[in-house]
Amino acid sequence: MDKLEIIGKPPGMPGTGLVGTLPIRGAKNAALPIQCAALLASDLTRLRHVPKLTDVSTMNRLLREVGCAVEVIADTDGRTVEIDPRGVAQGSLEAPYEMVKTMRASVTVMGPLLARYGRARVSLPGGCAIGARPIDQHLKGLQALGAKVTLEHGYVDLEAKRLTGGRFLFDKVTVGGTQNVMMAATLAKGHTTLENVAREPEVEELALFLNKMGAQISGAGTPTIEIDGVDELRGIDHAILPDRIEAGTFAVAAAISRGDVLLEHAPVDHMHAIIDTLVAAGAECRVEAGGLRVIGPERLRPFDVVTRPHPGFPTDMQAQIMVLAAMADGASVIRETIFENRFMHVPELNRLGANIVVNGNTAVVRGPTKFSGTTVMATDLRASASLVLAGLVAEGTTEVRRVYHIDRGYEAIEARLCPLGAQMSRYHGGGA
Ligand code: UD1
Repeated sequence: MDKLEIIGKPPGMPGTGLVGTLPIRGAKNAALPIQCAALLASDLTRLRHVPKLTDVSTMNRLLREVGCAVEVIADTDGRTVEIDPRGVAQGSLEAPYEMVKTMRASVTVMGPLLARYGRARVSLPGGCAIGARPIDQHLKGLQALGAKVTLEHGYVDLEAKRLTGGRFLFDKVTVGGTQNVMMAATLAKGHTTLENVAREPEVEELALFLNKMGAQISGAGTPTIEIDGVDELRGIDHAILPDRIEAGTFAVAAAISRGDVLLEHAPVDHMHAIIDTLVAAGAECRVEAGGLRVIGPERLRPFDVVTRPHPGFPTDMQAQIMVLAAMADGASVIRETIFENRFMHVPELNRLGANIVVNGNTAVVRGPTKFSGTTVMATDLRASASLVLAGLVAEGTTEVRRVYHIDRGYEAIEARLCPLGAQMSRYHGGGA
């Protein structure tokens, strides 16, 4: 398994001072559902600005498994992906356990397969490192559109000759659930109203994509989405929007290192809660023509954060913002309300020298921390990002193991941060 070695700041020095320009890549969480949406089309879809991540490759593998021809175009540096669903009718229409186990977003093929091909078979996701993560809302929503749902042998089978429009109120705000049911409704007969939906930018982006394909969706980005079903959707050309979480992660890197980094193409309109927190901590955030410039102050102030569905503070930035809190002069309180077990980075950050106490869904972070490098273990995608951030400002060397977690959501992170002055190397192989 690969590991990352990060040489932090020399003892006694004020900060690593990351400086330069960092282009923000396409959003993983926008790309994944859009890859699935290509299944709804009658012909080829071309996606551009696709991030080169293992989750995106896993989704390509799943699409091939269900019968799509998927081509990653080499002369675009692998950032253009063509998905042709014309072979799916002969495919398995199944997301097997092996796929869903490695990437939960695999369940997002369910809505498109059902709507376009009349059936789908998807492994139940089971336990997930950051909490239980059930898919009951996906299933109830699809049932409201007329799907027959059977649960057997750890798989869910869905069937419907043609879905029919309906009204569905989500009991819980869910990004994947909203996306799955919205995609299914595009090809249903008649009108669908979805209430209490997720308002994340990636839901809006998916609706935009589907409308370009010929769907009739309005209200994405608000709590209610209205959909008029159509008979057919066509393949299109589309560029994936930049990743607000990647931009947020690198913004924290700039802030804690007393750096000055321009995050090129950062989607600032989708980052208000993140930017407000950085500013509360004392970082300077300037919206410029090219993106977002983040300048780290000499002293960081403590702040409080509660994770919430969008437009609230994103749970996918909770681990990274904890490192900012750890560097601040005083006590910060961070409350996680989306996932019940998303503090697995805390013991590892404490091993690096942080003083974080967790009680239920609340973490109290007492700074300022003098991080000191040691060997730590990545446990999930965003947790591993927080360990890299801490390593950047730690004294001495930090070794982050199980780097495959970070490769799911960040393109070769060492290649991104080294040009800004970070000292990071990747070593292939080795123990867990
Ligand atoms: C997506 C994101 C993930 C992010 C999360 C919350 C993708 C590929 N992943 O995940 O990075 O952390 O949104 O912003 O876009 N829930 C239920 N029943 C359901 C579905 C969800 O109870 O049927 C619960 C979950 O357990 C969780 C909460 O709802 O507690 C939010 O989950 P959800 O928004 O569905 O997350 P994902 O779509 O899986």
